[in-house]
Amino acid sequence: MRHFLKETDFKPSELDALFALARELKANRGNHAKPLAGQTWAMIFSKSSTRTRVSFDVGIHELGGHPLFLNKNDVQLGRGETVSDTAKVLSRFVHGLIVRTYDHAEVQELADTGSIPVINALTDLLHPCQIFADAFTLAERWGKGGDLVGSLKGRKIAFVGDRGCNVANSWILGANLLGMKISLAGPVGFDAAPEFNALLAKEGYAGGYHFTNDPYEAVRDADVVYTDVWVSMGKEEETAERIKVMSPFAVTPELFAAAKPDAYFMHCLPAHVGQEVTQAVLDNPRSIIFDQAENRLHMQKAILATLAQQKRT
Ligand code: CP
Ligand code: NVA
Repeated sequence: MRHFLKETDFKPSELDALFALARELKANRGNHAKPLAGQTWAMIFSKSSTRTRVSFDVGIHELGGHPLFLNKNDVQLGRGETVSDTAKVLSRFVHGLIVRTYDHAEVQELADTGSIPVINALTDLLHPCQIFADAFTLAERWGKGGDLVGSLKGRKIAFVGDRGCNVANSWILGANLLGMKISLAGPVGFDAAPEFNALLAKEGYAGGYHFTNDPYEAVRDADVVYTDVWVSMGKEEETAERIKVMSPFAVTPELFAAAKPDAYFMHCLPAHVGQEVTQAVLDNPRSIIFDQAENRLHMQKAILATLAQQKRT
């Protein structure tokens, strides 16, 4: 059974087809095939969401399927039913699962013990749907009309702020998969969990990033300046400390101006204006934050259509 729990669940040789499908689904929105016809896909969310929840709901509907949203606290999983029993029961009813949770091991266990495809809609470790949509957003610009994935190769992304968060981790994995360079600037002590470095090594990408404490060094020659919130969901108790140590890593107009003159600004959103980024940067003509958000829909439809092709095991 094929899942999408991390970027590397797609082989490099499959990326051209995936990105081309996202482009085709975007161009023909409302007038394309419905590969999820007759299917129900359940969405189990343990954390808040605007973009991911709505884009999956709309995307499943547009592909002909039925989205079934399940707040974790409304199902027995939230009262202690085991992950594996949940996976086995839901596998008897629905055709796929989309899961947003804390512990990455939970999505892995759902995938390992169920018999339907599982999509990672964000864990504490990774946010692969975000990174594929972001990469598609860049490829639309750099590979206009031509080689989408190829247009990313050799480009440099600078991630500034909470360099140990799920989006930073996923961008490290994604950049290595896509042939991009990545430099991250953030405070010492907020590094990725050892679990992430083990995953990176397992994928053959150990050390596949550059880390600095100087945000200006990270953005030098960068094609993209990317940031995310300083306090991810689940880290609220560390709010005061995080704001204090991450303040030097805010993306200001001065920092953005130190990247390449045609660099793009990206943020997965939601943004905390005045913390990790200023309003002026969010409003810059080279800020592509809302195109990123829109492309969640088109890329996730391409992922859903790809996973739905497989036979049940
Ligand atoms: N970027 C993102 O995943 O947003 P949501 O938390 O609103 O889904
Ligand atoms: N790092 C953020 C991303 C939100 C989309 C979080 O996990 O809260």
